[in-house]
Amino acid sequence: MCGIVGYVGSGDAVEVILEGLSKLEYRGYDSAGVALIQNGKIRIEKKSGKLNNLKNHLEENPILSQVGIGHTRWATHGEPTDINSHPHYSEDKSVAVVHNGIIENYISLKKDLQKKGYKFISDTDTEVIAHLFHFFYDGDMIDTLRKVLKEVRGSYAFGIVHEKHPNELLCARKDSPLVIGIGENQNFIASDVPALLKYTKNVYFLENGDYAKIIKDKIEIYDYEDKLVIRDKHEIKWTLDQATKGGYPHFMIKEIYEQPKTLEETLRRRIREDYSIDFNELLTKEELENIKDIYIIACGTAYHAGLQGEYAIEKIAKLRVDVEVASEFRYSDPFVDKNTLAIFVSQSGETLDTLLAMKECKKKGATTLAITNVVGSTISREADKVIYTMAGPEIAVASTKAYTNQVLTLFLFAIYLGDLKNSITMEEKILLLNELKSIPEKISEIFKYEDKIKFIAQELKDVNNGFFVGRGLDYKVALEGSLKMKEISYIHTEAFASGELKHGTIALIEKGIPVVVLATQKNLIEKSISNIKELKAREAKIITIAQKSDMELSEVSDRIIYIPDTLDITSGLLSVIPLQLLAYYTSLYKGIDVDKPRNLAKSVTVE
Ligand code: AGP
Repeated sequence: MCGIVGYVGSGDAVEVILEGLSKLEYRGYDSAGVALIQNGKIRIEKKSGKLNNLKNHLEENPILSQVGIGHTRWATHGEPTDINSHPHYSEDKSVAVVHNGIIENYISLKKDLQKKGYKFISDTDTEVIAHLFHFFYDGDMIDTLRKVLKEVRGSYAFGIVHEKHPNELLCARKDSPLVIGIGENQNFIASDVPALLKYTKNVYFLENGDYAKIIKDKIEIYDYEDKLVIRDKHEIKWTLDQATKGGYPHFMIKEIYEQPKTLEETLRRRIREDYSIDFNELLTKEELENIKDIYIIACGTAYHAGLQGEYAIEKIAKLRVDVEVASEFRYSDPFVDKNTLAIFVSQSGETLDTLLAMKECKKKGATTLAITNVVGSTISREADKVIYTMAGPEIAVASTKAYTNQVLTLFLFAIYLGDLKNSITMEEKILLLNELKSIPEKISEIFKYEDKIKFIAQELKDVNNGFFVGRGLDYKVALEGSLKMKEISYIHTEAFASGELKHGTIALIEKGIPVVVLATQKNLIEKSISNIKELKAREAKIITIAQKSDMELSEVSDRIIYIPDTLDITSGLLSVIPLQLLAYYTSLYKGIDVDKPRNLAKSVTVE
């Protein structure tokens, strides 16, 4: 989704803004632009396409400036053209604005402004902000911003500069992320921390409704009630190297390979010596007794992690769980009240669908728990309780290490609930936790089969359609395998519960169509073999994922990838690894931009 970077200081604003925008490329974008104050005038330069188009243009037409804003745009209102790219000017070019999010009432604002004589040149919702700022401008930047914010509805993060205030940068946020970077004699704004890491590790995360005036040695933050506030200063622990590729050709493969280390970190931090789970007294026994319904609410890959979480909580804590897609939840008149525990899973902590579902639950009195990867993210701050996953920065659009960390965290949460409810014995708990502790090493084992996976990916790269099937827990992993393949290889795949195929979808099975069969659940092996035979009878090409000791599956499969033996309940943490690698290599062999697949954004901050 769009990225914002802003700078005020004594350095080269163009260099800082372009560097910052390059670190936000992972969010997905289709055009880029900058607005810089030079000799008391604002100069805007913007180009559709990759950031390099803008960089090359600025090399040929240099701008010397120490204050400016930059933007990478992911089109929502209007085509990805130069004109619709941000920043946007007011008509007299005295104001420039960059914006992430959506101004929901922009049509009525636009009509009002047009009646007042303002002319619009773009199709964007953002242009109304530049004109509104011009309309309300009274010589005082913060006062003017306050008046603008009272007019707009929707979600936003803004950066604003004015030609009469060449040492000031304004920003505001609501339901869209924005951080202020604190430097020495220079300050920054950005949509996400990686944009700032080269310059500073100290940041303020703005609260919802906050707005700020920033000069090079002073930051004034106001809250939604217009009160001057002091926000906590956070020190970011990530290194720039952690947020960059570190020798790997793509972030995705780096992140796949980071899984053993990040899972180990979660295990080390959460499992105490006495085998209890350290979630910082998240819930008391009494609080749990009052909970009648548990929901897990999330989108995409995080939703798939939620499905594994549901399985774990039901099996281990013997509590019924519903998993819901966040974008549907809000509109389904959900059965939520003060006896509901609503768990929101989100890597970025900024997904608007998930955030809005959380707000709905809070309104109805539920206890909200966020499981997120980003400290200080909106979802983490809005939730009543938070568990942070320890995946480290995830940059590739396709989520991998965040998923396995979410699944592991949900498993540990299930054990935590099981302890509170006494639904798990000490022996069962030790067996399960010891198995979870062995997962990082077992994932490293799977990496040894990479050549075999590459070979299968070579075969898959030319197909147009495929299926992922499984039973029980395997079906939940099949959904994630299919999503991963779709989003980065552009091959149309669907996931089905194996037993459901015969109720319709089997009509699509024909000679040579690849079907990835997840068959890791020992009690379901015979059923899986029958399903494979049904598929083989229709000449499908079977690629099976199975536990190492289930050798009999090799006889009915065309290709087989083994995962190390594990408990059935923990197999999803292993069986997803070959599926991630298969998607990665298929995408690579098809020549696709693996980390930034078309039409997708890392952080989806629109509804
Ligand atoms: C995963 O590969 C996706 N790109 C996407 O489905 C993602 O998981 C989803 O948008 C949710 O994001 P979140 O975890 O940041 O909330």
